[in-house]
Amino acid sequence: MSAIEPVDERPPYDLPTGESKTKLVRSMFDTIAPRYDIVNRMMTLGLDRRWREGMVKGLALPFGATVLDLACGTGDLTVICHKLGYKVIGADSSSGMLLSNKASAPLVLADSCSLPLGDASVDGVVCGYALRNFTDLENSLIEAGRIVRPGGRVSILEIASPTAAVVRLGFNVWFRHLVPLIGGVMSDRSAYEYLPKSTAYLPDTPTLRSLLLQAGFSAINHRYLSGGLSQILTATKSGTP
Ligand SMILES: C[S@@+](CC[C@H](N)C(=O)[O-])C[C@H]1O[C@@H](n2cnc3c(N)ncnc32)[C@H](O)[C@@H]1O
Repeated sequence: MSAIEPVDERPPYDLPTGESKTKLVRSMFDTIAPRYDIVNRMMTLGLDRRWREGMVKGLALPFGATVLDLACGTGDLTVICHKLGYKVIGADSSSGMLLSNKASAPLVLADSCSLPLGDASVDGVVCGYALRNFTDLENSLIEAGRIVRPGGRVSILEIASPTAAVVRLGFNVWFRHLVPLIGGVMSDRSAYEYLPKSTAYLPDTPTLRSLLLQAGFSAINHRYLSGGLSQILTATKSGTP
């Protein structure tokens, strides 16, 4: 037996990868779309509204800037972008989520790895709670880097795990046990059982930073929200504006 064990890059649990993940994620969001917003509010006790606003403000782009809401879902971030004076386009790979989208913005059915937008065609990208759902995160970020103009901005909001042990314990009970129960009653149990497991797809902060650098972003800033219940990453597209 070799002394060096091969690195197993598959996520743990019974989580799918490749085409099986793409299909599962798409059909899961198609199914939960109609009740996605209400379950979200209950799951986060309404805190997500504040996190979302903080994330969009992290773009810090001028009024009237063009922003893509990548994996826009039902449009919570699209609506906030619109309120802050941005021109917004939404893109998502689930037709069910787009049908439940409440924003009055142009929407497009598209995969994060293949966006129907030109090079350097937008001033910014927001992406909320979607990274761990992408089948190919590396190429999704490269694609985001392609469409953002030099000097443009990206702002990403994701789940995190609280740093303080006691808070983490409470969070784990809530997220891994109560969220599937609430999701089961209100929507689709298997989807809300998948949700806590899907955090295993999310790379750690140093890896996310390297992926953003590789996608052409710099000035990367990372911060935790509400003691680490969520996290925001912002960055600026490199190059001369
Ligand atoms: C947890 S929801 C977040 C929706 C919305 N951004 C929000 O903040 O509420 C994740 C979204 O990512 C979308 N998604 C997953 N994989 C995708 C992909 N490869 N390309 C585009 N959208 C994708 C899903 O359809 C879903 O709408």
